[in-house]
Amino acid sequence: MILPIYTYGQSVLRKEAEDITPDYPDLKQLIDNMFETMYKSEGVGLAAPQIGLNIRVVVITLDVLKEDFPEYAGFNKAYINPHILEYDESETQSMEEGCLSLPGIHEPVRRPTRIRVRYQDVDFTTHEEWVDGYLARVMQHEFDHLDGKLFTDRLTPLRKQMVRSKLTALLKGKVRATYKTK
Ligand code: NI
Repeated sequence: MILPIYTYGQSVLRKEAEDITPDYPDLKQLIDNMFETMYKSEGVGLAAPQIGLNIRVVVITLDVLKEDFPEYAGFNKAYINPHILEYDESETQSMEEGCLSLPGIHEPVRRPTRIRVRYQDVDFTTHEEWVDGYLARVMQHEFDHLDGKLFTDRLTPLRKQMVRSKLTALLKGKVRATYKTK
């Protein structure tokens, strides 16, 4: 089932999301719906707050990048209760980001290229690992959503100033996305 995506101004996007337990109701269905919603809207990641749920669940697909990054062929993963444990600040990179909750806004964001994460998979097995490359970028963007942060919070003061009018337009409902929004 395709779910509407909550956009800028919805308070759930600004809340700290909570860990869930294996008895969370209909979790498998929820994750399926999140994948379907992400594919339909052509995103590479979707966090539960973006569909109005204040819980730590994220889906990521990197299969679309397989031409440039063959290692991501077939990459479709759900992350439960993810937390970033450590940022390797020794190397950062600036890369343009967009967000399904901020339609029409694309801006460069500087982030560390390598992070250490802990999460559970769909079987609630815990994983702890260092991640780099494009996946580390997408994880940082998506896991930020679970802490109530949006990529526009991480722009330089000048770029922040430049997107202000676009954010205001979003708040006023003046921006139309190609997918269902709320
Ligand atoms: Ni986003």
